[in-house]
Amino acid sequence: MDVLDAIRARKSVRKYLSKAVEEEKLRAVLEAGRLAPSASNRQEWRFIIVRDGETRRRLAEAANNQAFVGEAPIVIVACAETDGHVMQCGQACYPIDVAIALDHLTLAAVELGLGTCWIGAFDESRVKQILSVPAEVRVVALMPLGYPSDSSVAKKKRLPFDEIVKYERW
Ligand SMILES: Cc1cc2nc3c(=O)[nH]c(=O)nc-3n(C[C@H](O)[C@H](O)[C@H](O)COP(=O)(O)O)c2cc1C
Repeated sequence: MDVLDAIRARKSVRKYLSKAVEEEKLRAVLEAGRLAPSASNRQEWRFIIVRDGETRRRLAEAANNQAFVGEAPIVIVACAETDGHVMQCGQACYPIDVAIALDHLTLAAVELGLGTCWIGAFDESRVKQILSVPAEVRVVALMPLGYPSDSSVAKKKRLPFDEIVKYERW
């Protein structure tokens, strides 16, 4: 599968099989995140791999009770061990860098027949408490990972090209 095919095939998966994810596949997905670019190569991302069923259930509760989050065999909790560095352009590095790593990871997952869903609706302090995350570390996203129960290709709802691309000036 080439990168463009993986981009086209990726979709948010909200139903998972209970089938376990092989260790080497998990490793390959995380490796794709590890190789992502980051501002000044800071690599502030840290990933907590949660397999324990009860912990996944509690994470799902902390994620607005989105039950499917806990139904995937793995939840990747994407954190940033950050000094809060802000780039000259005014943007904080860590949410951007973690997002790039997660995007690498989601595309690698597609290649391996796995599904993911970015979860941004969660209570950070509850997640930190559940996983004993140190106070200074930020939790950027939760990401269930598992085999999708439905392998159909979803039609993407996206703005038309001409609405989002401008040439030469705004
Ligand atoms: C930053 C971010 C936060 C999101 N948070 C959630 C979430 O909490 N729950 C959920 O079910 N989907 C969440 N999504 C998934 C989006 O709804 C989904 O990506 C979007 O509708 C496009 O659909 P697709 O991913 O299938 O292409 C999130 C996506 C992003 C990028």
